[in-house]
Amino acid sequence: MSRIDVGVLGATGTVGQHFINLLKDHPWFRVSWVAASERSAGKRYGDLPWRLAAPPSAEAADLVIAPLEAIDDAPQLLFSGLDSSVAGEAEVAFARSGRLVVSNARNHRMDPLVPLLIPEINPDHIGVLDAQRRERGWSGGIVTNPNCAAVVVAMVLGALRQFRPARVMVTTLQALSGAGYPGVASLDALGNVIPFIGGGEEEKIEIETAKMLGTFTGSAIVPADITVSAAVNRVPVPDGHTAIMSFELATKPTIEEVTAALASFTSEPQQLKLPTAPANPIILHTAQDRPQPRLDVATGRGMPVHVGRVRPCPIHGYKLVAMGHNVVRGAAGAAVLNAELLVARGLVRGAERAESFAILRQ
Ligand SMILES: NC(=O)c1ccc[n+]([C@@H]2O[C@H](COP(=O)([O-])OP(=O)(O)OC[C@H]3O[C@@H](n4cnc5c(N)ncnc54)[C@H](OP(=O)(O)O)[C@@H]3O)[C@@H](O)[C@H]2O)c1
Repeated sequence: MSRIDVGVLGATGTVGQHFINLLKDHPWFRVSWVAASERSAGKRYGDLPWRLAAPPSAEAADLVIAPLEAIDDAPQLLFSGLDSSVAGEAEVAFARSGRLVVSNARNHRMDPLVPLLIPEINPDHIGVLDAQRRERGWSGGIVTNPNCAAVVVAMVLGALRQFRPARVMVTTLQALSGAGYPGVASLDALGNVIPFIGGGEEEKIEIETAKMLGTFTGSAIVPADITVSAAVNRVPVPDGHTAIMSFELATKPTIEEVTAALASFTSEPQQLKLPTAPANPIILHTAQDRPQPRLDVATGRGMPVHVGRVRPCPIHGYKLVAMGHNVVRGAAGAAVLNAELLVARGLVRGAERAESFAILRQ
């Protein structure tokens, strides 16, 4: 069975390199086109600095980097790891030209017509793509994944949705790779905690969580009635964002009921056996000193969210520690899983029927 040609926008960045890495042996997708800024355009991909342990595939290394203007050469399905300074307009141009853009950038996440997806939490929100295409007149489309810390928070609250999460306090300890390359200066970061991350990081966690836990009515997404207060910190950890959470649950379950719901949580990607779906989207740790980024971040190729220290909170009722790989579950892996869901739902042109179902039957 032939694989679906895909392109990567921003292929030279931190997220872009993770895309190339995750798509290396992907059973459904084959990277046939890469694009980045004018600084990189025209160069051979393999000749640019590479910052991951495993090298890119020989096929990817031989690609010549295109500029963003080369829209007509791009394949139907595109992953975007573009810097937010350019992602907004560029992604619209590709969507208008008929490409389906599966993006990491923040620019379109809160657009009411753009799905902000975690396939385990709100796969039905993909339905708003119809209204997006109709109202914008695009033959392609834009689908986004959440901020790299918001995904950790929303995965936990989504798994506890039956208990009606209400008010949430979250303090994050966010990895250096979340700032892209070269990111925070080493002399600022080492041996330090920086209690601020620019780009509206706290607001993203607060508002994206409500959208993701919201309800799709058939034509629009109504945000959930949930209040989130976030305090973010940059810490000298290479990969893995930690979220220390305390929250109210309206139905007041026992701690045992909460831990059981987290431990047993599975959803549509697991049922469909999507290639990038982790067997367990949440890994519940019982050891008192877990999760830890260094020990846990690479488990399951970086796709599970880790949860530990589930216990009573004297203020909000419940508290715990959650951690996820910011560049995999919080970026490139999240987008690849989104694209797999799009294929499984027959929403990728050229893979609507026979091809996708053949893949799913394998
Ligand atoms: N890092 C994370 O953990 C993370 C998590 C979630 C979401 N995100 C989001 O994902 C996106 C990429 O983040 P990153 O960490 O990978 O950043 P990065 O390492 O700085 O990479 C940025 C990419 O955008 C390209 N780019 C920059 N300016 C451009 C221009 N004027 N025209 C065309 N391409 C341009 C760069 O190409 P050149 O190499 O040619 O300059 C590079 O490929 C951002 O929107 C970020 O907010 C990142």
